[in-house]
Amino acid sequence: MDSYLASHTTAVDETLDSIERWTHLHTAQPQMLCGPYEGRLLTMLCRSAQAKCAVEIGTFVGYSTICIARGLSSGGKLHTFEVNEEYESLIRRNLASANLENCVELHIGDAGKLIPETIKESSSIIDFAFIDAGKRQNKQFYDLLVPRMRSGGIIVIDNTLWGRKVLDIKLHQDSDTRCVNEFNNYVNSDPRVENIMLDIRDGMLICNVL
Ligand SMILES: C[S@@+](CC[C@H](N)C(=O)[O-])C[C@H]1O[C@@H](n2cnc3c(N)ncnc32)[C@H](O)[C@@H]1O
Repeated sequence: MDSYLASHTTAVDETLDSIERWTHLHTAQPQMLCGPYEGRLLTMLCRSAQAKCAVEIGTFVGYSTICIARGLSSGGKLHTFEVNEEYESLIRRNLASANLENCVELHIGDAGKLIPETIKESSSIIDFAFIDAGKRQNKQFYDLLVPRMRSGGIIVIDNTLWGRKVLDIKLHQDSDTRCVNEFNNYVNSDPRVENIMLDIRDGMLICNVL
């Protein structure tokens, strides 16, 4: 199934391909990359939101950053937040290789602290957001983003199936699984959004802000 889906999805270019290969060779956690399939969906969702302003939480080496930035409207900007300063030069190098330095603003530090300093509450200016960082902070990030989103904007949250452990919560009592499951339930009962959970890779929760 995976290879059939991949072979009927527009292929990534050499830039993303080489970032993926490099990440597998040189980093300890290459599985953190969203990869070409999910990356293609991020580009298309960002484009369909006609995003002038996008936010990403969890940059890692900048793979998903490039995918999102490629979906921005002309003149649009992506604010991406990464807490690990060791990734900074790598991210900048990868953004340069994709010629995207001018439309991406990289913020190094905890997104929970930096978002309120960067984007005014109730500004309603964010058109597209991708949450892919510490899963225990999902709720904090989501609650920071929702009041900053325009009506009709899209928020994507990654890893919401958490290795499918959320399917049997009685069996998986670890705190990460409980936290992801509680967050999924929180979003599902949030009247501020319409949401759909997709069985793509480790689960993607997509919210349309009302
Ligand atoms: C799964 S990786 C992101 C992968 C990336 N989105 C991609 O698909 O290519 C998660 C990243 O979130 C970062 N992170 C964790 N907590 C964070 C926080 N509070 N603020 C900003 N970044 C954070 C981690 O350092 C890590 O690089």
